Amino acid sequence: MSRARVGILISGRGSNMAALIEAARKEDCPYEVALIVSNVPDAAGLDYAAVNGIPQFAMSHKGLSRAEFDALVDGALRDADVEYVALAGYMRLLSPGFVAAWRGRMVNIHPSLLPFYKGLDTHRRVLDAGDARHGCTVHLVTESLDDGPILAQAEVPVLEGDDAEALARRVLIEEHKLYPRVLADLVRS
Ligand code: GRF
Repeated sequence: MSRARVGILISGRGSNMAALIEAARKEDCPYEVALIVSNVPDAAGLDYAAVNGIPQFAMSHKGLSRAEFDALVDGALRDADVEYVALAGYMRLLSPGFVAAWRGRMVNIHPSLLPFYKGLDTHRRVLDAGDARHGCTVHLVTESLDDGPILAQAEVPVLEGDDAEALARRVLIEEHKLYPRVLADLVRS
């Protein structure tokens, strides 16, 4: 079976990246992780990628325009024959040209039930609003932040006594299940 080649973009911890890598170990997984990209050269997730022998392109965006940096990332992805891009805690806005180049083949995971709570600090905002449900969303990436067609969501209950950290942990468990499944469905479609 030929597998779709995926590039994962991270800026930090990389736990979703790790979930995608782990899922790709299974023989029937329709994708393989071909490249990890990070705009933060010492991102914790890069260690995991290195231990697992996955090529990386890690370079700070500092001193470059958004378009210049994205062009370098795009080049690295293409050199690695990447066909799909998964954003996994990538804390950079993307240039319109990069988004257009990967349209329909670039996904993001966001820790809220979109379209609610775009942006940062979602768990705190859910608690402040007194919502009973929270969760995560995988969506196709468009020019607007945390927007774009929703591919799938997973819900968690907000429990009595939850603080933002406890809620984040509960959502993250779902993220790690949802992202590999949705990426697999996308590359199969
Ligand atoms: C996750 O909550 C993800 O939904 C969001 O950023 C966080 C990244 O965590 N986009 P990790 O780096 O994957 O551990």
